[in-house]
Amino acid sequence: MMKKYEELMKICLDEAQKYRFDVAPNPMVCAIIYDENNDKIISKGVHKKYGENHAERNAIIEAGDVDFSDKTLIVNLEPCSHQGKTPPCADLIIEKGFKKVVIGTYDPNPLVCSQGVMKLKNAGIEVISGVLEDECKELNKVFIKNVTKKMPYVTVKIATTFDSKIVTAGGESKWITGEASRAYVQKLRAQHFGILSGSGTVLADNPALTCRLKGERSPERIIIDRHGKIPFDYQVFRDDDTRVFLATHNLERDFPKNVAPVEFANFRDLFAKLYNMGVYSILVETGKTILTTLVKQEMADEIYKFVSPKIFGTGMDFIGNLNVFKISECYKLEFREIERVEEDILIKARFLYDE
Ligand SMILES: NC(=O)c1ccc[n+]([C@@H]2O[C@H](COP(=O)([O-])OP(=O)(O)OC[C@H]3O[C@@H](n4cnc5c(N)ncnc54)[C@H](OP(=O)(O)O)[C@@H]3O)[C@@H](O)[C@H]2O)c1
Repeated sequence: MMKKYEELMKICLDEAQKYRFDVAPNPMVCAIIYDENNDKIISKGVHKKYGENHAERNAIIEAGDVDFSDKTLIVNLEPCSHQGKTPPCADLIIEKGFKKVVIGTYDPNPLVCSQGVMKLKNAGIEVISGVLEDECKELNKVFIKNVTKKMPYVTVKIATTFDSKIVTAGGESKWITGEASRAYVQKLRAQHFGILSGSGTVLADNPALTCRLKGERSPERIIIDRHGKIPFDYQVFRDDDTRVFLATHNLERDFPKNVAPVEFANFRDLFAKLYNMGVYSILVETGKTILTTLVKQEMADEIYKFVSPKIFGTGMDFIGNLNVFKISECYKLEFREIERVEEDILIKARFLYDE
């Protein structure tokens, strides 16, 4: 039966992720009601919009007038046990008399973690937890960071040569990786609330930092330019209905109407402010200076490093001096996945910081 639960959990993950931006800052959740005796999906419910019905309630409504006492409910996140914008789902599941509940991962909120499961078990419902747990956590990694730290989830994307250079000795950086990697980056942009770059990159490359995939939204742009060096006719300030946050100490300029200046002391301060303005995840696309600063300030959660089969020898390294003199002082990562992207390789790794 575990294989079947995994198959159904995969459907939940696929369905849930379609509503990434509509449910934020809530998690992406889908629930399936399953008849084990007849191997039949009775209904599917998805949390589609912040403040509206949770997935479990939608699945129950969709099922209609059925006997739930021999049914299994599969859901990628522990059913909530507390009164929020909607009543607790655990209570509804108990009221309907389900036989079994299969969950992917516990609620990360330390105040309510495992209370939904406890409620269900105390009511005599069989609970199986941890089905595709890693995949379920990966889907809601932004929510997990948001709810536990009240900060955006920060992913750095960098394209390097085999010898980890991002610019040639002559100052060229286009294009290090192949077309497939660049198309992949467009998908990453579409999945993030914000995209961050610095004056070094903007002045060198004049990027637009938009998502060019048809039908996808562009992330809000966050540009670091403490001294106001970037002219407002650069592409990143182009008004195309997405806000531009300009992280700056220079408030003396006349800002275009789509540009919101944000004063900040350091990245922690900037990210906390952006989180409060609804930027729940950030994709960082910058050069060496910002990446080095982010790592030093322990503000990057994950890195997507595209490695192309080219060698520059000299040029700009992808990261600078971190004052590491002993191996025991190094910054640590954990490899998450390695993917072949046509001629390139994509390495996904998580930063591990001491708590
Ligand atoms: N291969 C790739 O994936 C890739 C991606 C992006 C860029 N690049 C290349 O990288 C090069 C640019 O790299 P870069 O290192 O010169 O520039 P950068 O990292 O893009 O920008 C430097 C930024 O760091 C900011 N900064 C410096 N210290 C800071 C601090 N303590 N706190 C907050 N912000 C701080 C600067 O702000 P101020 O303006 O206030 O000084 C500036 O915005 C370009 O040639 C570009 O083509 C390559």
